[in-house]
Amino acid sequence: MNAVAEVRGAVSAAKAAGKTVALVPTMGALHAGHAELIRAAKRHAGFVVVSIFVNPTQFGPHEDFGKYPRTLEADLTLATASGADWIFAPTVAELYPAGFASQVEVPALDRMLCGPRRPGHFRGVCTVVLKLLNIVQPHLAVFGAKDAQQCAVLKRMVRDLDVPVELRIEPTVREADGLALSSRNRYLSTADRSLASRIYQALQTVLHRVAAGKIDVARLQSGLLADLLTIPGAQVDYAEIVDAESLEPVNLLRRPALVAVAIVLGTTRLIDNVTVGG
Ligand code: PAJ
Repeated sequence: MNAVAEVRGAVSAAKAAGKTVALVPTMGALHAGHAELIRAAKRHAGFVVVSIFVNPTQFGPHEDFGKYPRTLEADLTLATASGADWIFAPTVAELYPAGFASQVEVPALDRMLCGPRRPGHFRGVCTVVLKLLNIVQPHLAVFGAKDAQQCAVLKRMVRDLDVPVELRIEPTVREADGLALSSRNRYLSTADRSLASRIYQALQTVLHRVAAGKIDVARLQSGLLADLLTIPGAQVDYAEIVDAESLEPVNLLRRPALVAVAIVLGTTRLIDNVTVGG
């Protein structure tokens, strides 16, 4: 039996036993951020499936698919210790057999933030997440706020396509100095790792300015950019304040807005965000 048939069998049995089923999709190289999602899933569901699949279709031709960290043994230990009842780790051939041809995309949200810098990325994410949801058929699926655009795109996909699942978004888990945990942090040199904490400091400064009554988005945005540009060697991909749902630019903070940044340090691209206003 292949991994798809096996997880379907396990989920059917759990549902027959009256359990709520949750899915936590991941690409492995699990860290404390993933563990928190699994624990959150376990608080809401009796049967938690963690998928581990480094999805080739969401990586660009010059991105790190080949060298993306693969740590399956350690992942199994961490996922199980965090409350996973089933690990679904299919092969590429199982999810994308010869002749695979369908794609799911949300063009309106793909134009924003990371979209233009990573063509095809969110199409790959949507397609694989819809496949995972169709395979596992969970009552709920849990995602991290760290990937804010991913959350917005997937929420829209689920709404537009009437996918029968509840999405839960959990807060970003950070290192003691504020750096958002990421499987890619291990690529950072020691010097860049210590500089990386300044990304969150810059986001915090925006929160403080908003708390002090500053709501002019253009000014907040240029202040944020100026702060990020003081990080030695950092290349700022974007630093934007956008509507949290539509990802469209906003002028004044009336509804919840996303302060989202993408920075390249060395060869590593880091993203982070905070939510303001509303
Ligand atoms: P991956 O990067 O492995 O992340 C899996 C989940 O963990 C995502 O929902 C992500 O937002 C969440 N996550 C990552 N770092 C986090 C942190 N510091 N705090 C809280 N949550 C965090 O995102 C993907 O994989 C893929 O695109 C996937 C959805 C699995 C589709 O392939």
